[in-house]
Amino acid sequence: MLRVPFVALCAMFLGVTAARSFEPNYDEAKIPQYQLPDTLASSDGASITSSQQWESVGRPATLKLFQDHVYGVSPDPVQQNVTVQGKVVSRKDDALGGRAIRRDIDVTVTHNNASLTMQMLVYTPASSQGPVPTFLGLNFQGNHSVDPDPAIRIPDSWMRNRNNGTTDGNRAIEAGRGVAADRWPIETIVGRGYGLATIYYGDIDPDQDDGFQNGIHGLFADWNASADPQTRWGSIAGWAFGLSRALDFLETDAQVDARNVIVIGHSRLGKTALWAGATDPRFAMVISNDSGCGGAALSRRAFGETVGRINQSFPHWFNDRFQDYNENESALPVDQHQLLALIAPRPLCVASATEDRWADPHGEFLSCVHASPVYRLYGVSGIGLASDSVDMPSPEQPLQYGHISYHLRIGKHDLAEYDWLRYLDFADKHLMKR
Ligand code: GCU
Repeated sequence: MLRVPFVALCAMFLGVTAARSFEPNYDEAKIPQYQLPDTLASSDGASITSSQQWESVGRPATLKLFQDHVYGVSPDPVQQNVTVQGKVVSRKDDALGGRAIRRDIDVTVTHNNASLTMQMLVYTPASSQGPVPTFLGLNFQGNHSVDPDPAIRIPDSWMRNRNNGTTDGNRAIEAGRGVAADRWPIETIVGRGYGLATIYYGDIDPDQDDGFQNGIHGLFADWNASADPQTRWGSIAGWAFGLSRALDFLETDAQVDARNVIVIGHSRLGKTALWAGATDPRFAMVISNDSGCGGAALSRRAFGETVGRINQSFPHWFNDRFQDYNENESALPVDQHQLLALIAPRPLCVASATEDRWADPHGEFLSCVHASPVYRLYGVSGIGLASDSVDMPSPEQPLQYGHISYHLRIGKHDLAEYDWLRYLDFADKHLMKR
C-alpha cells in the first residue's frame, strides 16, 4: 500500500477544495484596481486618431492580440481551399400559419476532400418581395427545439446530456421539440420583415474538450498539427468559423439579403457572436446577449465569473495561452472593450439581465462605454452618452442613441422576447433604412 504522509494528504485535500470552492465576487467595492488597455494606443505608443489608421494599424494589431491570447487562430478559409455548398432538403411555403417560408438546408463545408454538414433552418417572411435582412444565430438544443413543427429535423450530432428527458444520452430526441421556442420568437421576427437562420452549435463543434478530434476542428487535422499549440483555435473560434461559413452560403441565397445579416448569440454563443463579428466584417450587425466573461464583460473586473474560473470549467473554449491569465487578468494585453471596438462602426447590441450577476452586467456596460472612442473615429457615436458616463443605466431603459445599443432586462440569464424586441428596433433603425 502506498503510504501518503498526513501533511501531504491535508495539502492534497486543501488543494482540491481550493480549486472547487470558487467564491465569485459580487461586491463592486472588492473589484481589484485595474487600468484598461487604451483602445486607441498603437504598439509604438502613438495615439490612433483616424478610422484609416485604426483599420491599417490598430484593428489588425488588436485582432491579433485576441487571436494569440484569447480565442486562438483559425485556419484561413481561402488559403485552406475551403468550399461551402448548400442544398435545400425541405421547404414549406406556408409555415407558421402561412406567415413564413421555412427551409431546412444542408450547408456542407469541405476541406481536403473531407466535409462537415451543418443543418440550417431558415425562416423568411412569406410576404417578402425580395431578399430580407436576416438574423443568424446558433442554438443550444437543436433546430427542432426552436419550434414544435414536426417536420424540422432532429440533429444527429453530439449533444450534452441534459438529463431532463429531452436527450437520450448524448443524442437529441423527439421530446426536445419546441423546448427552446421561447428564445426564438419566429413569428415576431418574420412579422417585422426579417429572416431567421439558425444552426445547432454542436453541428459545428461538440461542446466538450475532445482534443481537436471532432467537428470543425477535426476537419482541419493537418492544419491543427502545424499550428502553434498555444494559440490554435478553441471552440468559440470554431463556432464562429462555422457562422462565417454559414454566411458564405447565405451570400448565394436569393431570399436572404447577405449585406444585412445580423449575427446573434446568447451566453457562450454570445461570446461566439462577438468573435464572429470581430473576425468577419461581412456581418452587418452583431448581438451579444448575456455573453459575460470572455464575451462583453471586462475581464479585469473579475466580477462573477473570472478568467481562471472559465478556463477551469471550459478549457476548450479558448486557446491554451488564455490560461496564463487565470487570476492574473491585468497581465492580459487586451480587455473585452477592445473586442467590441473590433466591430466598429457596425451596429452592436449588448444586453444583460438584472439577475445575471455571473455575467457581470456592469462590466458589459462599461465595455460599451470604452469601445465608443473607436466608433467616434468613424464619425458616429458608440453608446451615445454625454462624455461617456459610466453610470449604469436603469433596468429596461434601453440606450439606443448611437451605434451601440445597451439594455439591462429585468430577470434571469436568458434570451427573452424583451431582448428580441430591442434588437428588432435597433435593426430597424440601422439596417431596414438602408
Ligand atoms: C456557464 C459559463 C458562462 C456561459 C454560460 C452559457 O454559465 O460559466 O461563461 O456564458 O455557461 O453559455 O450558458
